[in-house]
This record gives sequence, C-alpha cells and structure tokens, in this order.
Amino acid sequence: MALFSSSTQTIPVTGDIPQHIAVIMDGNGRWAKKRFLPRVAGHKRGVEIVREVVRLCANSGVKYLTLFAFSSENWRRPADEVSFLMGLFMEALQQEVGKLAENNIRLRMIGDCSRFEPALVAKIAEAETQTAGNDGLTLTIAANYGGRWDIMQAVKRLLADNPAITDSFTEEDLSAYLSMHYAPEPDLFIRTGGEQRISNFLLWQLAYSELYFTDTLWPDFDEAEFKRAIESYQQRERRFGRTSEQLIAD
Ligand code: IPE
Ligand code: IPE
Ligand code: MG
Repeated sequence: MALFSSSTQTIPVTGDIPQHIAVIMDGNGRWAKKRFLPRVAGHKRGVEIVREVVRLCANSGVKYLTLFAFSSENWRRPADEVSFLMGLFMEALQQEVGKLAENNIRLRMIGDCSRFEPALVAKIAEAETQTAGNDGLTLTIAANYGGRWDIMQAVKRLLADNPAITDSFTEEDLSAYLSMHYAPEPDLFIRTGGEQRISNFLLWQLAYSELYFTDTLWPDFDEAEFKRAIESYQQRERRFGRTSEQLIAD
C-alpha cells in the first residue's frame, strides 16, 4: 500500500505552504564562470545555499525537500568535475549530518548507488540511519538519480516480488516501489539557472506539481528568491483537472 494518495487517483488536499518542494539546483558552473572561477567553485558555493534552503524550508513548515544533486546523465561530464562532485558530496555528508540530526531533520537518498565508491555508500547509509528517527523536515538528496531509472527499477522490483501480477497491477502498486514512496508528490518544483526543462528528474511524481523557473543561478538563490517562489505557488489555482467554478463551489 502506498502511503500517500496519487494526484491522478484522488484530489490531494493542498495548503498555502507546499508540503513537498523539489528543486533542480542549476547554474553553479555559470555562476563560477561569471567570476572567472573554476566551475567547481560554483558547486562549493552551491552547498552553502543548500544549507540555507534547508533552514528556510524547516522554518516555513515544509515537510519534504528534495534536491537534485547529480543526475544519471551527469556522468557525461569531465571526469575531474565528476570526482570533485563525489568528494564534495562525501565532505558535505561528513560535516552536516550532526547538524541535521540536531535539528530533527531526516536525511534520505534516492538514486542508483551502485556506481558510487563503497566508502560513499557506507557514509550515506550511516547518515540515513543516524537521522531515521527524526520527524521534522525530510531532506532527500537525489544522486545518480534519473526519473526513467526510477520507473524502471520500480517495475522490475514489483514484478520480481509478484511474478503472477503481470498486467493486472495498479498505479498504487507501482508507486509503492518508486524511490519517493515515503513522500507526497511535490507541490512545488523549482528550477534555478534559467533552463525550463525537467532533465529526467522526478518524472512520475511531477504529474501535477506547480512548476517555477527562475533565471537566478543556484549560488545566488537566497531567502528573497525562496519567498518569491512560495508567493508564486500561493497564486496558483491547482485544479487537478477540474474547472475554476468547481473549485469555487467546493
Ligand atoms: C548544477 O549546476 C549542479 C550539477 C548539475 C551537479 P551546473 O553544474 O549544471 O551549472 P551550469 O548549468 O553549468 O551553470
Ligand atoms: C540537472 O542539471 C541535474 C542537476 C541539477 C543535478 P543539468 O545542468 O545537468 O541539466 P541539463 O544538462 O542542462 O539538462
Ligand atoms: Mg546545468
């Protein structure tokens, strides 16, 4: 059984504050380039913004924050940038886990860990265990994540567990195997850096998310920018297929 209802099966209850925000943190490289710095300087600065956005979400009552840190296609980047990102990831885990634990934040990772160094995989597992009892904000880091990978792994695991199910399974059966089975679908999707695309992020889960794109580069995404995104969200009419008149009547 899935924990949360699906936006295509029932109409979700929504509020002024998004329960779940999903973010494509884009523009680190361009931020650095503008300053004549190496691209990796932008990634370093990006980690500081993560810390700030986690704080803003926790203080605003957001329950789930999901950040796209490394896509399944980012392996196509130069090897030195990939290995810098892996190192940064490890370092950030080491430095931040204690603080997350203190602040009642639960850390979870989604993505295909099989390509990571064993030390990183162990560190991830340790961080997840250390924060597993926290019931404040759930911070999910998507690393080596791809929306298509997610759907494929869910189908494979569903069929492996239920060989006789063949074509009789439901959306709900499948969504229980998706990486984000423990969270409601994102209410708000934010992409910084000016591009207006999903880049293989949460393909299934973004079905009815409100999309917000800003030209601001991730290392410049501050509290004012965060508030702008929330305000934009608050002005949306989330119809989920219905008419405006139906919403008013409700
Ligand atoms: C996002 O910033 C971070 C990752 C993809 C890891 P980019 O590195 O994509 O920055 P731009 O888009 O090149 O500016
Ligand atoms: C998406 O950003 C992935 C992350 C932010 C981790 P990219 O910079 O990799 O996306 P594309 O390649 O421009 O679509
Ligand atoms: Mg980019």
